[in-house]
Amino acid sequence: MRILFLGDVVGRTGRDTVAAALPDLRARLRIDLAVINAENASHGFGLAPDMARTLFAAGADVLTLGNHSWDRKEIVPYLAETPRLLRPLNYPPGTPGAGSVVVTLADGRRALVLSAMGRLFMDPLDCPFRSTAVELAKYRLGASVAAIVADFHAEATSEKMAFGHSFDGQVSLVVGSHTHCPSADHQILPGGTAFQSDAGMCGDYDSVIGMRKEGAATRFWRKMPGDRLQPAEGPSTICGTFVETDDATGLATRIEPIRQGGRLSQTLPSV
Ligand SMILES: [Fe+2]
Ligand SMILES: [Fe+2]
Repeated sequence: MRILFLGDVVGRTGRDTVAAALPDLRARLRIDLAVINAENASHGFGLAPDMARTLFAAGADVLTLGNHSWDRKEIVPYLAETPRLLRPLNYPPGTPGAGSVVVTLADGRRALVLSAMGRLFMDPLDCPFRSTAVELAKYRLGASVAAIVADFHAEATSEKMAFGHSFDGQVSLVVGSHTHCPSADHQILPGGTAFQSDAGMCGDYDSVIGMRKEGAATRFWRKMPGDRLQPAEGPSTICGTFVETDDATGLATRIEPIRQGGRLSQTLPSV
């Protein structure tokens, strides 16, 4: 299975660039399953339902969220009625929406996609390790599902690496989101799980993690809350990860980073 994961879509530039490029990316890389983190699509904060519909229409199979899940209130009823839009699974029981979904591809293959959120330098949610283990116990990789993708939305690389190693061999891909910076540690772990600490964002990199640099920097100088942060609106770099898996085992055979457009050095796997 060929899997595409794109990191946090930030603001209009991220949304428009991803929506415009996704059909071509899917075709060029012959993607079977596309998962996109969209927690910052709405002006940097949350995801509005119309933006989710645009990303689904462009070719996203599953959208994931994170600590900005609830910034747009309209998303709450939409989450409850849209199984392919995920919020992290380790929110307390009773939270609207779901943290995982089984997607059936056009050719009948099934894939599990899940979202979990870290706790180091983040909100204190339920344990993401135990919550993920409970979810994974319901499936057999390479048997009941052909692939499993886990978006681990977390701040600390240590927690992300620990999460990847914890589920090595049980998941096709553990990919981080949230930091908005692509890491260069993409690899196939010893047990066969593809891993990257962070896929990076889909947004303007002449910024502070996607927000206008002037306002964001002032906050660090003055240590006072300033005006509401605004998304930077220059050309967007699409950042993500490409993974190929063996359907018989569900394990990864290849992982390559993707950086297309905008300011970052460019890389696109050849398929
Ligand atoms: Fe984010
Ligand atoms: Fe986040």
